[in-house]
Amino acid sequence: MRITMIGSGYVGLVSGACFSDFGHDVICVDKDQSKIDALLSGRMPIFEPGLDQLVASNVAAGRLTFTTNLASAVAGADAIFIAVGTPSRRGDGHADLSYVFAATEEIAAAVTGPTVVVTKSTVPVGTGDRVEAIFREKRADVDVAVVSNPEFLREGAAIGDFKRPDRIVIGTEDERAKQVMRDVYRPLYLNESPILFTSRRTSELIKYAANAFLATKITFINEIADLCEAVGADVQDVSRGIGLDNRIGKKFLHAGPGYGGSCFPKDTLALLKTAEDYDTPVHIVEAVVKVNDSRKRAMGRKVLHALGDTPRGKTVALLGLTFKPNTDDMRDAPSLAIATALADAGVTVRAHDPEGMAPAKAMMPDLVYCTDAYDAAEGADAVVIVTEWDAYRALDLARLKRVMTGPVMVDLRNVYQRADVEQAGFAYTAVGR
Ligand SMILES: NC(=O)c1ccc[n+]([C@@H]2O[C@H](COP(=O)([O-])OP(=O)(O)OC[C@H]3O[C@@H](n4cnc5c(N)ncnc54)[C@H](O)[C@@H]3O)[C@@H](O)[C@H]2O)c1
Repeated sequence: MRITMIGSGYVGLVSGACFSDFGHDVICVDKDQSKIDALLSGRMPIFEPGLDQLVASNVAAGRLTFTTNLASAVAGADAIFIAVGTPSRRGDGHADLSYVFAATEEIAAAVTGPTVVVTKSTVPVGTGDRVEAIFREKRADVDVAVVSNPEFLREGAAIGDFKRPDRIVIGTEDERAKQVMRDVYRPLYLNESPILFTSRRTSELIKYAANAFLATKITFINEIADLCEAVGADVQDVSRGIGLDNRIGKKFLHAGPGYGGSCFPKDTLALLKTAEDYDTPVHIVEAVVKVNDSRKRAMGRKVLHALGDTPRGKTVALLGLTFKPNTDDMRDAPSLAIATALADAGVTVRAHDPEGMAPAKAMMPDLVYCTDAYDAAEGADAVVIVTEWDAYRALDLARLKRVMTGPVMVDLRNVYQRADVEQAGFAYTAVGR
């Protein structure tokens, strides 16, 4: 099949590369010339484990190409995926659909024959109807079916998630479009990944409901962690104690500094806006958003508290800046709020991240960027584990202590055992333990 992917970011590039790996012919389009230039010269514009090899092998096999020319890429495609960004609209939290509609207009101007247009971007309920209306208005002469196919991959594990998804959700009632989508995903459902066909609006809502539920689970355990601290209980044992119950499940029960990233913050807000528009409040998600926002600031205060009565003039080493390990994505990372709180209190921040330094520098130019964890700890009064990269899981605590001024560790991901850290001579603060 011929597949065109509009938008070659975290989702578009991974999806395009995986589709080509299934044997489809894929053209990935982006309007960002520097991304396409990088891809054409064999460099990845993002960090995602395994992506470079996957792209290289499919480019070599002649199944995967890149272009900035949307019109030529769209002509003759069996399926055209829209995988552009849908960030929070500045000021009100609605999903900003301007990129989706701009891409739609460009596709409408360029389609040549019957095709299926698939929104893979996360879009609010009813967006597919508006995309369809654009085609009806602009291109009544061609048969274009508009399908919703939300993406559930996780950055850092994106290729595995795409190739072995828990489920594939496809929102359409058009029989021809269903057949095209079956053909697109055939290699996967032969592997028995379930395909769920729903109405388009239902499919759009499934994505928001899934992310809001996961954000709720994280926020729930974070509040239980606070309660654990107050009553002298251990949140890791609580997580295990409840997670072994199959009705609850073990995942997303790790207490930490609050959720961040390119999806949960914007998608929970957008869900609230949809709920508001339809006069059907989702109070649980309202609480989740509020609690998570205040948590990020609270984590800044937690670090300041660990520094003692006079944090001003002290130095903190922040280990891990990206919102989670194995990605270079800095969007809405908790490190941003923590670093701001520290800087506001007159604390110097020395920072390290294995993959996120370049985007972090663009967003936080005033931090001191270091070559590794030990360099960051040089002269620091406290070291703070913000993101649980493997590189920080087995630090040489004696070496760390030797280069630090004051041996304090704030472990916002509960990576270490209190006894080990205290034995190494640190004052140790964790989350919910
Ligand atoms: N990142 C994730 O983990 C993830 C997971 C599931 C779903 N999603 C959703 O997928 C969508 C894309 O997210 P992302 O993280 O890949 O975003 P991204 O910002 O990494 O990539 C979007 C790309 O689209 C390009 N683009 C925008 N308008 C274009 C146009 N008219 N023509 C060609 N290219 C255009 C941009 O230049 C950019 O490279 C969002 O709706 C997001 O919510 C993301």
